[in-house]
Amino acid sequence: MNILLAVSGGVAALKSPSVARRLQEAGHAVKIAATDDAYHFVTELSLAIAAGDAIFDREAWFLPDGQARHIDLARWADMLLVAPATADALASAALGKADDVISATILAGVPKVVWVPAMNTKMWEHPAVKKNVATLQSYGHGFLGPVFGDLAAKNEGSGMGRMMEPTDIVAALPSLFTSKDLEGKKVLVSAGPTREYLDPVRFISNPSSGKMGYAVAAAAQARGAEVHLVSGPSSLPLPTGVNISKVESAEQMLSALDADFDDCDILVMTAAVADWKAADQKQEKQAKMGDTQNLELTRTPDILKTLSSKKKQQIVVGFAMETHKGVERAADKATRKKMDFICLNYPRKAGSAFGGDSNEVTIVMPDGEFQELPRMTKREIAEIIFDKALGLG
Ligand code: C5P
Repeated sequence: MNILLAVSGGVAALKSPSVARRLQEAGHAVKIAATDDAYHFVTELSLAIAAGDAIFDREAWFLPDGQARHIDLARWADMLLVAPATADALASAALGKADDVISATILAGVPKVVWVPAMNTKMWEHPAVKKNVATLQSYGHGFLGPVFGDLAAKNEGSGMGRMMEPTDIVAALPSLFTSKDLEGKKVLVSAGPTREYLDPVRFISNPSSGKMGYAVAAAAQARGAEVHLVSGPSSLPLPTGVNISKVESAEQMLSALDADFDDCDILVMTAAVADWKAADQKQEKQAKMGDTQNLELTRTPDILKTLSSKKKQQIVVGFAMETHKGVERAADKATRKKMDFICLNYPRKAGSAFGGDSNEVTIVMPDGEFQELPRMTKREIAEIIFDKALGLG
């Protein structure tokens, strides 16, 4: 996306070069506009270095050929992202003024405007600011934050009004563009591996990272669902706006999912549940004895099968990893476990192993009908899962 990052005059403008960097890392093309007051907090040079381009400001409003840059940039940009957005910047735009680079670019018809406010709590809560925010929302503008946290003013402490962190801004942007077609739906997601302890320090597990399930939970949240993510051990950052239960064993995962299954509309079971657990889990650490050791194992509960056996309105989606006869075996699993469809992946395909950011899956219906998807990110796969689930529901 082409993003015009506009910087207005607040202390959080110090973070604007970092917002630009994070946007570029996420693959966006970035140009920067700055109001006169922005330069009280961040230099033109540090913004220009971050953009790799000259800044659009009052001094550079017209190009050498006479072209007005607010018109030119409104055509170039897919989105105007104002970070930080001050009360003054919001007021000018709400009034429809054109006396600074931000309000002028908005009037010139930039397709999408997103504000990232940063100000003192009292200012953010003032009715005049609230009215301006409501006016801008009525024009279809998006808002990210502010968030609760430390405020800049001396002795102010914490409060609502802090600018969202640059990485959170970039992560939240897609949610402003997605339709809320899962609004009112409850989505239950399992993710990651389970751990079945042999004794207090040893366990049976697998290398699942949780990335697929976390991507599914984030996609559902962005599309407006109420999401409960039940996660086995994973080092991933927790997705925002999602209810999370952290579990370890298959039994704990079953009971956390079971608590919400009756009420949910869609269950997506991405977890790599360990199939076996110790028949006799020891309470104390076992000493090493001899060169060999026999271990008696019993099966863990089949979570999906247990939940599906009381399925009513729920759409149930599972995952399968197969090394051979993939479609046949996946269709059989989908039928036995009463799934609506199953996402099949092959661990031996390059880049399809545990832990990657992308995958190649085949969606298999219980009757064996299937659709091979090309390699795509786990988030894109998550979106297709919900498109498909909504089509069935
Ligand atoms: O392990 P399997 O290939 O049978 O997994 C198919 C689906 O069943 C997956 O969605 C997985 O999360 C789920 N499963 C489960 N409980 C188990 C094993 C697998 O819910 N004990």
